[in-house]
Amino acid sequence: MTDFPKRIALLGSTGSIGQQTLDVVRAFPEHFQVVALAARQNVELLTSQAREFHVPVTACFAQPPEVAQAARAALPSVLLGEEGLLEVATLPEADILVAATSGLVGLNPTLAAIRAGKTIALANKETLVMGGHLVMDEARHAGVSILPIDSEHSALWQCLRGESSADVRRLIITASGGPFRHSTPEEMRTVTVEQALAHPTWQMGSKITIDSSTLMNKALEVIEARWLFDIPYEKIEIVVQPESVIHSMVEYRDGSIKMQASLPTMHLPILYALSYPARLDTGSTGLLRELHWPEVARLHFEALDVARFPCVRLALEAAKRGDTYPSVLVGVDEEAVALFLAGKIGLLDIAALIETVLEQHQPVANPDVPAILEACAWARQRTRELYEQSYGRKVE
Ligand SMILES: NC(=O)c1ccc[n+]([C@@H]2O[C@H](COP(=O)([O-])OP(=O)(O)OC[C@H]3O[C@@H](n4cnc5c(N)ncnc54)[C@H](OP(=O)(O)O)[C@@H]3O)[C@@H](O)[C@H]2O)c1
Repeated sequence: MTDFPKRIALLGSTGSIGQQTLDVVRAFPEHFQVVALAARQNVELLTSQAREFHVPVTACFAQPPEVAQAARAALPSVLLGEEGLLEVATLPEADILVAATSGLVGLNPTLAAIRAGKTIALANKETLVMGGHLVMDEARHAGVSILPIDSEHSALWQCLRGESSADVRRLIITASGGPFRHSTPEEMRTVTVEQALAHPTWQMGSKITIDSSTLMNKALEVIEARWLFDIPYEKIEIVVQPESVIHSMVEYRDGSIKMQASLPTMHLPILYALSYPARLDTGSTGLLRELHWPEVARLHFEALDVARFPCVRLALEAAKRGDTYPSVLVGVDEEAVALFLAGKIGLLDIAALIETVLEQHQPVANPDVPAILEACAWARQRTRELYEQSYGRKVE
């Protein structure tokens, strides 16, 4: 028996995952109640969400700082800065934290929520990539569940349900292949920001969409899976499934393979994490389009061409080295993607910057949160310096 309504605190409510989480709440008002919302700077949307869902607690990180004034004017009791995010994450009235901010700001609030005994529905990848060892340790210690929102991890989780981990031969994570699945390196060298943002199957925030075009996103998902399911990298594989209908698979030692399928939508993995262990009937809600197999007609599977997508190799090497390398990976990727989105570098420069910054890093073993954040900040700074040296221009 699952206790409903579940009370939700939502970090990153104005983003792609945040807004889709609120779609799920709209579809199941008797099952879910939003008790706190947090965003960075989109005060207008945060305010309208707070009004629509009658949310008593709101937080605005206020970046840039001048946003704080507008936030206070619109929402007089709004909490500001990182303190605000921490309050939302640990609110006594909440049962579950949906961690859906982009970037590294999710790490501290997620750890605080775990210590406060909250169930975590985790979308934010950086949290596990940088701090998987801390997050999973703390969660085990606190007896708290980390429930994935990423569609691939939700698929793996659903395929693993009721099975013994000793029987797992390998996890197979599917990838759409992104917009440059068939592009040559020469073509990728000159792609525009608009082309890289035009993902063939998924509508997402801009950072993850660029990561999907370089396939960095897929490598980050392998790292997430390693931590979520406590499985070695050697047992995790990637296969390209361009229609994004099979969201991932688990192969068992007897050779049987379980897959999870749906049309591409984030509403389903969000709903599954929120309703777990129950399954709610989406039939009359209008939330999901039904999958009619004859319409899908054909499913394709291809091997991933790692040579054309060097971010995959670089990210997995950093993950296997461990220490602060994954934090550096997150920092340099974040900064390099921002440079690409600002039209300052080409798509292939992202991997080149990642390779150089990782090579120059002096690692710290078994890092705590300050060491993780310091390594990440160093990587961002080093990326900007390398850009300025190569292009002779300052990063504004
Ligand atoms: N989108 C997807 O389909 C998808 C799928 C799987 C996993 N994920 C992961 O989920 C996370 C969110 O992705 P997204 O696509 O939803 O990103 P997004 O559309 O860019 O939204 C990011 C959200 O985080 C908020 N935010 C950013 N920095 C913040 C800060 N310092 N303090 C408070 N809030 C902050 C933003 O607020 P403002 O709007 O006010 O700036 C916004 O609400 C990422 O880690 C991504 O990798 C996304």
